[in-house]
Amino acid sequence: MEYSIKTIGVLTSGGDAPGMNAAIRAVTRAALANGIRVKAIFHGYNGLMAGEIQEFTTQDVSGIIQRGGTILKSARSKEFMTLEGRQKAYETMQREQIDALIVIGGDGSFSGARLFAQEFNVPVVGIPGTIDNDLWGTDTTVGYDTALNTIMDCVDKLRDTGTSHERLFLVEIMGRDAGFLTLNAAIAAGAEAAVIPERTAVETQIEEAIGHGRRKHKNSGIVLVQEHAVPGGAKAVGEMIEKLHPEYDTRVTILGHLQRGGSPSAFDRIVASRFGCAAVQALIDEQRSVMVGLQNGEIVYVPLSKAIKEKKDIKDDKWRALQVLSI
Ligand code: F6P
Repeated sequence: MEYSIKTIGVLTSGGDAPGMNAAIRAVTRAALANGIRVKAIFHGYNGLMAGEIQEFTTQDVSGIIQRGGTILKSARSKEFMTLEGRQKAYETMQREQIDALIVIGGDGSFSGARLFAQEFNVPVVGIPGTIDNDLWGTDTTVGYDTALNTIMDCVDKLRDTGTSHERLFLVEIMGRDAGFLTLNAAIAAGAEAAVIPERTAVETQIEEAIGHGRRKHKNSGIVLVQEHAVPGGAKAVGEMIEKLHPEYDTRVTILGHLQRGGSPSAFDRIVASRFGCAAVQALIDEQRSVMVGLQNGEIVYVPLSKAIKEKKDIKDDKWRALQVLSI
């Protein structure tokens, strides 16, 4: 069958996430299976503006499903946030005869994509790819599960040394403005507490976690601190605890960018593969400016505008579970 879209461009943008390669592979192979050509765009929107483009065959995406990072490279483009930048990007698309774009990225990447689609009437579909899991309309994002597992492994290791020395570890976790990674990793690793931006004042969270005599039988522990829950992050929380509870010997570990690396989990590979196929299908079905998502195990399409603007809630039962289970 012949579709109005003959060539799809695919790019990765923003912070890389494990599973992005699985998504690139799925987009490429699903498009080719439908007789649609694929042009890979390197370095995110910067490459779209500069014309860093290569046509992909099925062999170009061989042996990448298990690799972390993104073979297309990624960038956070300031220039694409300007109208002049987006004009350049549009000119590249015309020159390269790219009819539609699939953007694999997060919040910032989708804001740019939405503007671009509106201004130049370009069909755009988003695949949520970020370890932060902060996009509304999808239960998960590509990379989130792998990052959770990475954090859990690191915290397990920290617990060994923390218990041996009877220390309290403050572990700083990424997430931009969202606490999903922090809260869920805290549950998975059996942490004593999580400090997240979505909940009450940090002092209260700390008191609930280690004060009130509740933890008298334990003098070691793990508290996960979301990077932006408090100015100064885990270090500031450590200083706060040392003042309030000098009986604790504290140590701070910032996990940093290792949370973004590594081979994607089976879950992320499967989600990324489904998202890639669904994104191509969306373009074939003439959907515009939507993000592919997963809700209750099913593929859904969510307007990009909503995915960016609406706030995804932290599940209250998870928050309560952490409080109960950490006693
Ligand atoms: O959005 C992914 C993320 O890793 C956030 O969790 C973090 O705040 C940010 O990117 C770090 O960005 P950069 O890699 O530019 O330092």
